[in-house]
Amino acid sequence: MLAESSPSRSTLGRTSAPTPSVAVRLSEIEGDAESRVTVPLEEFSRVLGGGIVPGSIVLIGGDPGIGKSTLLLQVALSLADRGAVLYVSGEESVRQIKGRAARLGAGSVEGLYLMAETDLGAVLGQIEALRPRLAVVDSIQTMHDSELGPGAGSISQVRECAARLQALAKGSGVPVFLIGHVTKDGAIAGPRVLEHLVDTVLYLEGDAQHAYRLLRAVKNRFGPTTEVGVFEMSGDGMVEVPNPSEAFLAERVVQAPGSVVGVTLEGTRPLLVEIQGLTSPTAFGNPRRTANGVDFNRLLLITAVLTRRLGLSLSDQDVFVNVVGGLQIEEPAADLAIAAALASSVRDRPVPADMAVVGEVGLSGELRAVPQLGVRLHEAAKLGFRRIIAPRSPRIEPAPAGLELLAVRSLREALDLLLEKG
Ligand code: TYD
Ligand code: MG
Repeated sequence: MLAESSPSRSTLGRTSAPTPSVAVRLSEIEGDAESRVTVPLEEFSRVLGGGIVPGSIVLIGGDPGIGKSTLLLQVALSLADRGAVLYVSGEESVRQIKGRAARLGAGSVEGLYLMAETDLGAVLGQIEALRPRLAVVDSIQTMHDSELGPGAGSISQVRECAARLQALAKGSGVPVFLIGHVTKDGAIAGPRVLEHLVDTVLYLEGDAQHAYRLLRAVKNRFGPTTEVGVFEMSGDGMVEVPNPSEAFLAERVVQAPGSVVGVTLEGTRPLLVEIQGLTSPTAFGNPRRTANGVDFNRLLLITAVLTRRLGLSLSDQDVFVNVVGGLQIEEPAADLAIAAALASSVRDRPVPADMAVVGEVGLSGELRAVPQLGVRLHEAAKLGFRRIIAPRSPRIEPAPAGLELLAVRSLREALDLLLEKG
């Protein structure tokens, strides 16, 4: 992968010596690929697929200010009590990092080595000298390889620096975490130059106005890409949220029109979220549709179905939909919650506090089945909901004790149940 890109590759780190490779018998390869380093931050470990794989290279991307440096410093600190961990920053001074560590409640952890450096050669040298349990490079865009000339952050610099770090990681067994800023178009450091090169790509997502952060694996050579870790940014670092549904519903005002609880899946994890809808007469011009946390086209489809199939007059209304907590919901299983929130707002009638909903809405106003209904039902029951409206399907799941499953075929039936008097 490296050899073809540049003629200067013979000067690559000592770890990838240019001696010709020979094939090795599988049985003769030492080491167990599964001897992972477990991170005490459980939510982080799980997203990686159960800990850090030795010699792996992991890219953590996210918007500026979302908490990447904070989270990775916490990971570094949590491992530094049992050996050396190297944290390289090209963005902050060692004093600043020390200040941050103090804020995270760990002023003096013996094993943590800090280095404020942007010269890749110096960083590679330190990793080899120290052989840490983990090396963090914050951020890959600030690193530059002097052999390639000036200009940290250019695509060729970013790619080469990452490639040399990868070679060192593979050769030495030191796992390396690279922090990457996401560029405006959403790709890390230009057109996905790094994603194919690294073993694992994690994204830290969230909305700067809200405290919740989701850590999601989008590529993982060593685990599933379905896991999601939930954190909350607090005054002293990122706090794990082991029970996100509870957190997302904490501020809910029951009996408020336009508020509906939907059950969504993040990876394999069921999550109860409050979806709010508001409709208000359009003052002038075209009616507006605003989607916060749900797909805009999905919202248009649902408003069209509500208008055409249920006769709700939305064509002279501005429509707003909001997912509480700053979460971004992709799956159509949240359709019913969106539709119900809007209908509840139009009719100015609240939905019962003990009722949750799930279901995809089809163009004819039918409700379509959703994957993993069973785990969703359990999550709703666990959070104390007593009734749930879900699509009727031939293989209907038995509802867990305490939860009544109201299986319906259409959006109309669902809304009748939700918005009935009494
Ligand atoms: P940071 O980790 O620097 O983000 P990134 O590396 O992704 O750019 O975190 C940025 C924000 O987090 C910053 O606005 C300050 C805030 N913050 C907290 O709220 N609590 C904390 O304990 C820390 C260290 C930072
Ligand atoms: Mg940072």
